[in-house]
Amino acid sequence: MGKVKIGVFGAGRGKTMIGQVLARADGQAELVAICDKYRPSLDAAGKMAEAKGLKVALYEDFDEFIQHDMDAVVLANYANQHAPYAVRIMKSGRHVMSECLTCATMKEAVELIEAVEETGKIYTYAENYCYFNTTFEMMIRYKKGDIGELMQAECEYLHDCSSIWPSITYGERNHWRNNMSSVFYCTHSIGPVLFATGLRPVRVSGFETRNMDFMRKLGDPSGSAGTLLLTLENGAIVKSIDMNLRRHGNNYILYGDRGVMETDRFNSRMLHVRQEGEQNCTGDWFSYTPQFTDERARGAGHGGGDYFTTNYFIDRLLGNDDVKPYTIDVYQAVDMCIPGILGFRSIMNKNVGIDIPNLRNKEERDAFRNDTFCTFPEVGGDQYVPCNIMQANKDEVIEDAVYDEVRRKWQCGERG
Ligand SMILES: NC(=O)c1ccc[n+]([C@@H]2O[C@H](COP(=O)([O-])OP(=O)(O)OC[C@H]3O[C@@H](n4cnc5c(N)ncnc54)[C@H](O)[C@@H]3O)[C@@H](O)[C@H]2O)c1
Repeated sequence: MGKVKIGVFGAGRGKTMIGQVLARADGQAELVAICDKYRPSLDAAGKMAEAKGLKVALYEDFDEFIQHDMDAVVLANYANQHAPYAVRIMKSGRHVMSECLTCATMKEAVELIEAVEETGKIYTYAENYCYFNTTFEMMIRYKKGDIGELMQAECEYLHDCSSIWPSITYGERNHWRNNMSSVFYCTHSIGPVLFATGLRPVRVSGFETRNMDFMRKLGDPSGSAGTLLLTLENGAIVKSIDMNLRRHGNNYILYGDRGVMETDRFNSRMLHVRQEGEQNCTGDWFSYTPQFTDERARGAGHGGGDYFTTNYFIDRLLGNDDVKPYTIDVYQAVDMCIPGILGFRSIMNKNVGIDIPNLRNKEERDAFRNDTFCTFPEVGGDQYVPCNIMQANKDEVIEDAVYDEVRRKWQCGERG
């Protein structure tokens, strides 16, 4: 097969994938088009290509972009709008790599899966936290049986975004980051656990901290951190903590019946492993920095993860099925996200446990075909709910002046 022609939709985060396509060592991927309605980002992305001697088509309008001659599209648009665009793109005959998240509602989850099945197009999910040197190594060790069967996991995606909130929400009241619930972005915490073990979540209960002013002052009505408690298909349990705590870091612990693996809380490149010895309660810890499976990942964003998501996608487009076990398909992508949707439904219902369907089974899909429950008004319709329980109880609306001030800070390059 000749070179694959790739377009990128969304030129904020999308610049990372643009950089990876442009740097592709075998020269078998060609960046041909970029789309973003925000001209400064679009032009900046175009300049990245120009610096490599490439003239790339720039579009502000998606309907024009989709007409461009290309084999595949990287979705780096708004996190709550990936599924409908992915469906459209696959139905137009192109392959898709989707940034996080997979879908905003259960209805979209069903539609996305069915679009992949109907079109037969390649869909990969760019859950880059699965490809850290540590989390990828956990996957390799788990598959080898080094810690036996998973009993319990703990995972955290803690990202205090308060200082960067102006530059990532631009003072827009309706930006998805201001409308998402505390557990919506659960993919970075539970993703690596599901990727490592291959297990499916079957039940979820959600919990939310109280609503904190430090995020509300920046226009985020949720202002809470969320916790999900999951049961996996083998009976293992998972505690997942998300987002708005006063810390930045990702931590993962897998407890098996033959040992334990955990990432280091203060040295993110380090992994600690303990395997049971011949006798119960024997066996020593060992700690090390796992090597990347491809040294070219060194220095790439998000602990090297940004290298693998794009390059594995390109490998798949080029017909290299050796990497297929390492890419995340639509079913696992949905498994990594729908606990956040259903988890918020649990939060709204006093933390009740909610069954997570296996949408691989066609007969489980019908119950969710019209399920638009979510915190995004434009897709939720009559099933829309506010993005936090405090707001739901108090109906407290953040004043316009807060968003004006956040916008001013963004425009002046000030931090939150
Ligand atoms: N995996 C990671 O580590 C990671 C890190 C950052 C962002 N992300 C993801 O990347 C995506 C983009 O995030 P972001 O940080 O760039 O912020 P963002 O969501 O605010 O930016 C999206 C960009 O897409 C453009 N866009 C959206 N809809 C459009 C439309 N209909 N037509 C034209 N342009 C449109 C916007 O103008 C904007 O530049 C999100 O899904 C986010 O979750 C992932």
